[in-house]
Amino acid sequence: MEFKHDVLIVGAGLAGLRAAVEVAGVADVALISKVFSTRSHSGAAQGGIAGALGNEEPDSWEWHMYDTVKGGDFLTDQDAAEVLTQDALRAIYELEHMGVPFNRTPAGTIAQRAFGGHTRDFGKAPVKRACHAADRTGRVIMDTLYFESLRKGIKVYEEFYLLDLIMQEDTVAGLVAYDLATGAVHVFHSRVVVLATGGFGKVYKTTSNCFANTGDGVYLAYRAGVPLEDMEFVQFHPTGIYGMGVLISEAARGEGGMLRNGKGYRFMERYAPGLKDLAPRDVISRAIYDEIREGRGIDGRDYVHLDLTHLGKERLAAKLSDISSFVRIYLGIDLVRDLIPVQPTCHYMMGGIPTNLDGQVLDENQQVIQGLYAAGECACVSVHGANRLGCNSLLDLVVFGRRAGKKILQALDGLAWVSLPDQPERDTLAKIDRLKRRQDGEKAGVLRNEMQEAMMAYCSVFRNKKDLNKALATIRSLMERYEGVAIDNRGLGFNTDLTEALELESLLNLSYIILVSALAREESRGAHFREDYPERDDQNWLKHTLIRKTMDGYRLFYKPVTITRFEPKPRVY
Ligand code: FUM
Repeated sequence: MEFKHDVLIVGAGLAGLRAAVEVAGVADVALISKVFSTRSHSGAAQGGIAGALGNEEPDSWEWHMYDTVKGGDFLTDQDAAEVLTQDALRAIYELEHMGVPFNRTPAGTIAQRAFGGHTRDFGKAPVKRACHAADRTGRVIMDTLYFESLRKGIKVYEEFYLLDLIMQEDTVAGLVAYDLATGAVHVFHSRVVVLATGGFGKVYKTTSNCFANTGDGVYLAYRAGVPLEDMEFVQFHPTGIYGMGVLISEAARGEGGMLRNGKGYRFMERYAPGLKDLAPRDVISRAIYDEIREGRGIDGRDYVHLDLTHLGKERLAAKLSDISSFVRIYLGIDLVRDLIPVQPTCHYMMGGIPTNLDGQVLDENQQVIQGLYAAGECACVSVHGANRLGCNSLLDLVVFGRRAGKKILQALDGLAWVSLPDQPERDTLAKIDRLKRRQDGEKAGVLRNEMQEAMMAYCSVFRNKKDLNKALATIRSLMERYEGVAIDNRGLGFNTDLTEALELESLLNLSYIILVSALAREESRGAHFREDYPERDDQNWLKHTLIRKTMDGYRLFYKPVTITRFEPKPRVY
């Protein structure tokens, strides 16, 4: 079938929903979501949304901006950080007025708590800046925006999987999507496509990301000729449940939790004497691995403990109820008396599809691609630089999702309908057909496991040339083997065998892109730590990486960082 809408938004997480809510009622907008909308990964965000409301103690957006820039190890574009942190107050009050049930101070204002890297007075001491609804902040914001989208009558194509972008001479014309329930392939004709497809943590073995986070939007943009930015910067959250990767919110440390090594020692005192357990995520993740490497993991093994036992039953129930129940369900432990075994888990991609401050996607010459927008984790504004500050993700989604929506409304009248090419779904149908016809071959799941193991072992918290090359060789060989992947299920309805094989193409290509970007950057900055180049090198590397597909492979090139207020300086915590 062919569908037609002025604006198509792919992804029903917070960025997609917020953009849709802005456009609804003025233009014909539809959301396309791979999962049922309220199962989007934004719902997994726990700890909070950052904004210098100053409800608990003095705070200012300039301090928040400074933390965002310093947290990003000075790779953050400062014009973007200024927009994000200045607009935070409006954005959070808007959510409150839509009905988000934030926790409250005794005075009835929105409650705020400490979080990693959030400081007062340009780094002097921790500050309470994270607005939260217990430890399910993403969940309640998503439910609120979802009901807002229902109220506005936004059309949603649930469980439709994006399989191709339709571009005509550098202008977007629509997309091709696969209906998971029926197996039908549909063409969508539109004047605008917004990619809000989230991250791709599934390239790693240990991740806090949901199964749907396979980076399809990012890969399809790359395949269509869009460059990708800063793809080497992958954030590992220090506290994933050991062996599972399920997130234990930084809010746990914001409420006073402490990390302890195998000797029971609070080791962050040594690595970050100022902020201790509230240092940024890259700093803590490296510290955990250092402890483990030096034999101070728990019983000499590869994890440490998170200790919340001193917080008490009441505080745990009021502020950390979801993680209390996660550990009860997954580990059979009680936070009132037990320690949580934790290890770093792949959490967030700083890199993605380059956009301007209004979500418009930029080509290799920094020119706007007509009709193509990106917002949220799949985009790179770049507001998170080399390492995102906790609670800036939910903020990014609602601030830049709304800005994209506003820009679309401004620009729509000037955008003509571009006619569709003949049979735009032909290549997609042929690909599905090939997979279904192949009788013998390897299983996608086998290849995916090998990819995840290699990325985890050789391209996670610590990296070096030798390991990155090992991973690259593995991914190259997996890409070759991918051409022979076969599936068992040839059915139409909810054929996960088929969709997993299709997703693997995105994951393998994105792994490759992460690796070549990481190999090229011969310095350490934020989440990209090169053991063979342990220092930050502003002389040579204070620049954004861009990678673009070419006829014979890829081309890496670079663009300057926007610096407005804060000159780069050493990052001490
Ligand atoms: O730890 C957390 O609750 C995660 C928050 C975030 O990634 O912003």
